[in-house]
Amino acid sequence: MPERIRHLLDIESLNTEQITALLDQSKPFQEIQRMPLKKLATLRGKSVAIAFFEPSTRTRISFATAAARLGADSMQLQAETSSLKKGESLLDTVYTLEAMKPDCIVIRHSASGAPHFVAERLPVPVINAGDGTHEHPTQALLDALTIRDRKGRLEGLHVTILGDVLHSRVARSNIHLLAKFGAHIRLCGPPMWVPRELECLAPNLTRVPRLEQALEDADVVIVLRVQLERIHGPALPLEEYILQYQLTEARLRRARPDAIVLHPGPMNRGIEIEPAVADGPQSCVREQVTNGLAVRMHLLYLLIGGAPIDSPGAVHAAD
Ligand code: NCD
Repeated sequence: MPERIRHLLDIESLNTEQITALLDQSKPFQEIQRMPLKKLATLRGKSVAIAFFEPSTRTRISFATAAARLGADSMQLQAETSSLKKGESLLDTVYTLEAMKPDCIVIRHSASGAPHFVAERLPVPVINAGDGTHEHPTQALLDALTIRDRKGRLEGLHVTILGDVLHSRVARSNIHLLAKFGAHIRLCGPPMWVPRELECLAPNLTRVPRLEQALEDADVVIVLRVQLERIHGPALPLEEYILQYQLTEARLRRARPDAIVLHPGPMNRGIEIEPAVADGPQSCVREQVTNGLAVRMHLLYLLIGGAPIDSPGAVHAAD
């Protein structure tokens, strides 16, 4: 039995046994997404605080939907409409949320380490939904679930991660996860976004400057979103990025014919990814979103401690 987790703050501190258990135990929750009646009652009476101090579409909706499908309530805080605008500190904000007695707090914050800070101070389980440039652990889990479903394994795969690796919490969590399972990771992107220091993140990790070379025989290509605010200026004009680093159909032919393409979203179509690739047969973008629900449902279930999901009382008739 792997050691039980109390929070999900990062991937780096988990071992392969714990990650494998998280992935395996998400499988029944994948099944639920395919059922006509998707709602369980296993967390009935529980509530989840979803505190997003940064804009988000899919991750916030994904957690809220996951909570609802388990029968839990959610309290949602969004930076744009909250007292954060009035200058309230992170700690005061989460103390306020905690006073409403949630059973779990899901937090996204622009400061790396914010969820760890909160977890040390509050008595409830904390899930990191993305902290600064540090980690985005549920994204890495849903990516790993998608890869494992399609490839049957993580071990020994050739994975190319393309784009602004330096500023990407998605890349960092994926690197930690995939490296623990012995994947061979190639990082590709403009040199200022793929600096040498990243080689310390994991063994079996190489930096490959030319995209054509980085894609050679890849099993999996993870395309990162270009943060457009980082791109203007003479150092790297947008046209140059597109020319050198856009994942196009023609370039993807360098990868294995059965290679899959992942993108965490939101996609900048026509910038980091050609629309024909985003919508093509190798793209797993929508599958990732569905798997995100399964991973998050399982995590809430695990950390809050729900009733067994195979018990007959677990399914709501209707409500
Ligand atoms: C990512 C994020 O916010 O880190 N999006 C997401 O959660 N699906 C990726 C990104 O915005 O670049």
